[in-house]
Amino acid sequence: MKTLIVYFSLEGNTQWAVEQVAAHLHADTLKLVPEKPYPSSGFPKYFWGGKSAVFGDAPELEPYSRNIAQYERIILATPIWAGTFAPPLRTYLNHVQVSSKRLALLACSGGGSAEKAFTQLKALAGASGDVPTCHLVSPKDKPSEANEAALTAFYKALES
Ligand SMILES: Cc1cc2nc3c(=O)[nH]c(=O)nc-3n(C[C@H](O)[C@H](O)[C@H](O)COP(=O)(O)O)c2cc1C
Repeated sequence: MKTLIVYFSLEGNTQWAVEQVAAHLHADTLKLVPEKPYPSSGFPKYFWGGKSAVFGDAPELEPYSRNIAQYERIILATPIWAGTFAPPLRTYLNHVQVSSKRLALLACSGGGSAEKAFTQLKALAGASGDVPTCHLVSPKDKPSEANEAALTAFYKALES
């Protein structure tokens, strides 16, 4: 099934996970890049990123080229920010209609739950039916058996 993985990653964990999944599925990837970069260190990183997530921002993105019409399945991948998904995913879903696609979701957190993000992303994407999900805890920075098991379960769910 032709698959596109659409993702945002500030510090590389989501990107790392996306690279694993893309290699496994032979999928294409699309990295969302905000026109105005989020701060990537210290207090400003948490303050501005957290504020942007809490306020439901939809930051302007740099132009992207992938045409969704060419794909049957879309996987949305995001870090968890302030308990929810990162704002660049909102901008993308505001512009692109994915409700007719098979959807799957991947999130990387620092240890907190991804359930709220999954629920909100499903609603924003207009998803119906079963949506495979995968939650990893900082897989680039903290490799673990739990992350490996979650990825394996995700691959299995994507096969069905
Ligand atoms: C602005 C901001 C808010 C965050 N909020 C949470 C959170 O609510 N819960 C959590 O478990 N981790 C939180 N984190 C940690 C990230 O979800 C975690 O480090 C993730 O692996 C980062 O993905 P990335 O490397 O692709 O950016 C936050 C990180 C940032 C920068």
